Amino acid sequence: MIDIVCGGQAGDEGKGKIAAYLSYKGNYSYCVRVGGPNAGHTVEQDGHKYTLKNIPSGFLNPNTKLVLGAGAYTKTDWLLKEVELTGTKDRLIIDPYAVLITDEETKAEQDAAHFMKHIGSVGTGLGQAVKNRIERRQVKFAKDEPLLKDFICEVPELLNKALDNGEHILLEGTQGIKLSLLHGEYPFVTSRDTTASTFLGEAGLGPKSVRDVYVVFKPYITRVGPGPLEKEIFDESSLETYHTKGREIGSVSKRLRRVGAFEKRSAARAIMINNATKIAITHIDMFEGNNAVKKYEDFTAEAKQFLESIKELSKEIYPHPALSIISTGADMEDTLVLK
Ligand code: IMP
Ligand code: MG
Repeated sequence: MIDIVCGGQAGDEGKGKIAAYLSYKGNYSYCVRVGGPNAGHTVEQDGHKYTLKNIPSGFLNPNTKLVLGAGAYTKTDWLLKEVELTGTKDRLIIDPYAVLITDEETKAEQDAAHFMKHIGSVGTGLGQAVKNRIERRQVKFAKDEPLLKDFICEVPELLNKALDNGEHILLEGTQGIKLSLLHGEYPFVTSRDTTASTFLGEAGLGPKSVRDVYVVFKPYITRVGPGPLEKEIFDESSLETYHTKGREIGSVSKRLRRVGAFEKRSAARAIMINNATKIAITHIDMFEGNNAVKKYEDFTAEAKQFLESIKELSKEIYPHPALSIISTGADMEDTLVLK
C-alpha cells in the first residue's frame, strides 16, 4: 500500500522529519520523492543534520530504496552531492523522465524579476524548467545524462509491481496547500499543485492503493516568500525565538521565514483536498516546556489546548483524520505516536 506525506500550510511543516520517522520505523520498500529542489527537507538523527533537496527523507532506513519519479526535478550536481553525503549510491532509482534543471534555466529564472521579486521564487530554475516542459521545448531528462545512467529505471512499472507483491511505498510530497498552483494563494504559489493526488500522478501511481495520507501542520505558519499570512508576527524578539529556537530559516533559500498564526481555514482545506486520514503536528516544542515529552498527558496546558483544537477541527472536516504523530523536537527520535 501507499502512504503519502503532505504539507498542510506553506511548506516547511516538517514533512522531511515525519517522512524520515515513518520510513525508519516502518517497512517501506520504496520512499518516493516528487517536485523540485526549491523545497528543502530537513532530517536530524543523533546530532547529524541533513538538508535534502533531492534525496527522499526516508534514506535513513538502509532497507528502503529511494526513488525520484517523472514529476521530480533536480540538478545533476546537487543530486550527486546528496548521494555522496547520504551514501545512497546503491539504492537510488530515477525515472527516465525526471527532469534535470539546466544552468540556463536557473539563470533565466534568477534574471526574471517577476519570479524573484513578485513571487519570491527560491530561484532554483524549477519554474523555468516546468515552463519549458509545458511548452514542449527541449528539456534535459534524466535518461539523457550519462552520469545518472546507473540509476535509471522504469519507475511506474517498478512501483506497481512492488504493490502487487504486497510491498509498501512512502510518497513524500513537497511544499504545502498554500503554495499549490491550483488550490493555493495564487499568484504567490509554486509552479505545480502540491496535493496528494498530484504527488501520486507525478510518481506514476494511482489512487486505489493509498492507505494513509498524512497531513503535517505546525502550531503556527511560516512563509519564505510574499503572500497572505494571518496575524503575521512582526515583534522582533518573538520573531527571533522562531528563527533561533524554532530553526525557522529557509533551508534552501536561507531567508528568515515570516511567521503567522495557525490558520484554521487552510488547515481545513489541506485535510479536505488531500483526503487526509492522519494528522502529524510538528514543532510542539515551540510551546515552552514541551521538549522531548513522551506522553500526551505530560504536555503543557497551552500545547494540549492546541492539540485539542486540532481534534475538534478534524471532527468538522471530512475525512476526519486522526491526530497520530506529534513531533517534540528536531531529532527523528523526538516523536510521539498516538494510538
Ligand atoms: P518557487 O516555487 O521557487 O517559484 O517559489 C514560489 C513561492 O513558493 C515563493 O514564495 C517561495 O518562497 C515559496 N516556496 C517554494 N518552495 C518552498 C518550500 O519548499 N517551502 C516554503 N516555501 C516555498
Ligand atoms: Mg523546506
